[in-house]
Amino acid sequence: MSSIAPSRQILVTSALPYANGSIHLGHMLEYIQTDIWVRFQKLRGHQAIYVCADDAHGSAIMLRAEKEGITSEQLIDNVKLEHSTDFADFLVDFDNFHSTHSEENRELSSMIYERLKDAGHISTRSVTQYFDPEKQMFLADRFIKGTCPKCSAEDQYGDNCEKCGATYEPTELKDPRSAISGATPVLKDSKHFFFRLQDFSDMLKQWTRSGTLQEAVANKIAEWLDSGLHEWDISRDAPYFGFEIPGEPGKYFYVWLDAPIGYMASFKNLCARRPELSFDAFWQADSTAELYHFIGKDIVNFHTLFWPAMLEGAGFRKPTAVAVHGYLTVNGQKMSKSRGTFIKARTYLDHLSPEYLRYYYAAKLGRGVEDLDLNLEDFVQKVNSDLVGKVVNIASRCAGFIHKGNAGVMVDTNPAPELTAAFLAGAPLIADAYEKRDFSRAMREIMGLADKANAWIADKAPWSLNKQEGKQDEVQAICSLGINLFRQLVIFLKPVLPHLAADAEAFLNVTPLHWTDHETLLTNHQLNAFKPLMARIEPAKIEAMIDASKEDLAAAADSAPAPAGNGELTKEPLEAEIKFDAFAAVDLRVALIEKAEFVEGADKLLRLSLDIGDAKRNVFSGIKSAYPDPSKLEGRHTLYVANLAPRKMKFGVSEGMVLAAGPGGEEIFLLSPDEGAKPGQRVK
Ligand code: MSP
Ligand code: ZN
Repeated sequence: MSSIAPSRQILVTSALPYANGSIHLGHMLEYIQTDIWVRFQKLRGHQAIYVCADDAHGSAIMLRAEKEGITSEQLIDNVKLEHSTDFADFLVDFDNFHSTHSEENRELSSMIYERLKDAGHISTRSVTQYFDPEKQMFLADRFIKGTCPKCSAEDQYGDNCEKCGATYEPTELKDPRSAISGATPVLKDSKHFFFRLQDFSDMLKQWTRSGTLQEAVANKIAEWLDSGLHEWDISRDAPYFGFEIPGEPGKYFYVWLDAPIGYMASFKNLCARRPELSFDAFWQADSTAELYHFIGKDIVNFHTLFWPAMLEGAGFRKPTAVAVHGYLTVNGQKMSKSRGTFIKARTYLDHLSPEYLRYYYAAKLGRGVEDLDLNLEDFVQKVNSDLVGKVVNIASRCAGFIHKGNAGVMVDTNPAPELTAAFLAGAPLIADAYEKRDFSRAMREIMGLADKANAWIADKAPWSLNKQEGKQDEVQAICSLGINLFRQLVIFLKPVLPHLAADAEAFLNVTPLHWTDHETLLTNHQLNAFKPLMARIEPAKIEAMIDASKEDLAAAADSAPAPAGNGELTKEPLEAEIKFDAFAAVDLRVALIEKAEFVEGADKLLRLSLDIGDAKRNVFSGIKSAYPDPSKLEGRHTLYVANLAPRKMKFGVSEGMVLAAGPGGEEIFLLSPDEGAKPGQRVK
């Protein structure tokens, strides 16, 4: 090839899936999105490298392995095989799929930690937490169970109640028990290590506004940046499945510290096998290579705050961009096990071809962070009409006439130069849409061209001409152009449909197609026999897949569900519903925070003295992690639940509660009424 433009060097990652569960169609949204983008870059002749790995550390994995009676290493090996097979069968073409539990990752994590420490970005202090005296381990919130302090429902997790939806501190649970051993936990102090994220505020303010993020993401981050960054707890105590912190026996890196370093480790592991790749060329501070991370909206703070700060602090380059996508819903709702819409990658593959889903996701994926719906009826309709009805149809209509009328040889006349010109003009628009990850626009452009080709062929009606005397040349010219247009559509769709493209290349009797091949036409060219390239989706297959997803659930029912994610946060929002009466019974009022102070011996609570108009109230609230300087809350208005039964806590009686939002830790946002609201006013 005669490409003169220097090819770009592009390293691309998808988030590293947790090694404690199966891949489902929600995950696949991300891996398919990334894979399409990488395949597009490769098709254009750039050096694009796509690496990923299993995220293998954390207490959830350790405990699941124990329960299954195997070592953590055995568990993550099994899961890695399962994940790799799922990805390969969805045609996700990683250059490397590694593990965060690897030598490369241990070395890089230690090195980055040492560099951060030497530069003064690591601090230590003591933290008080529940501890399981039998199991001899500290308990993350999800591993503590007890009676809900709000509604007295039994057997609730340490951070929220599935019955009434309340969130609280583990120390607020009544009759707390360790979910692991059943023992009553005790409070215990331990030394923790913190990464001083606040040292990087200025850099992050600049970096997040330099075209690295989508607008909506940058705005969200700006809220965090403006409210001030805090140090981040990066250590966990033994027993923990992870890497021991160098020089600190019994202390381990928190899973989220070494997880993103896993991107580097996977690349480093690949470099050992691919001598033309240089680790430093991609990662040194002044690297000219590009680095892209594709992630879901739930893990934005890790990738746009912690990770660039770690890289900067350790003297490495920062990402070129972080591409964030929304969450998958199925038939307009959160994936649901009871409805059979929590569909595992494997269950889908048992019933349907991967390319159907790849195309559907491409047709729906834009540049935004909105959630994306897999509507199963629309899925069947769209795939059948676009891929089978429009694209493949062109080839199946034309191939037979060329084989029967001209021994499979395409002729060299072009009966519709305006049509080939339109295809040529469409190519840069399609490329631009792919480059910008606006795949839905790319698919619309491509299907617009397919419509043009079909309309032209229908108008020429070679099947009628073929029955007339002396029209054979015309028939051959029409069908040869039809095949050429089909070939161009295949090139444009190749990032999305690699199997279809390979089958088409076999039929077209050509070597693997590159992007620039769309600029030429096949003339006087011998075709191979035509085989049907894609079958329609039968709706019965969808039903069978939904039924099987319900069966998956039944089979899984006897093994108690492991806590989601890394065991420290749950990603499945609650599906609770209450009657209006229950809602109306909540006495919500505006409260003025007169005083906010630390509580001796409590590591998550603040004591708030509230003015609620006609009375004063004392409330303990688990918001300390977000408000390290409580005096800043004084004088602020917030929302207060006045008719909650008073709760006796270790530190005193809490009378009602204040309202806040957010996942926890530093991301807790106390709710406030608009200016002008007065203490005691009721919420209507
Ligand atoms: N292990 C972390 C990522 C560490 S990256 C250094 C993690 N793992 S995960 O398995 O929970 O998720 C992997 C990716 O899949 C994340 O980007 C997540 O946003 C994405 N998705 C998981 N469920 C999803 C949907 N239902 N819909 C869309 N994406 C989803 O997070
Ligand atoms: Zn409750």
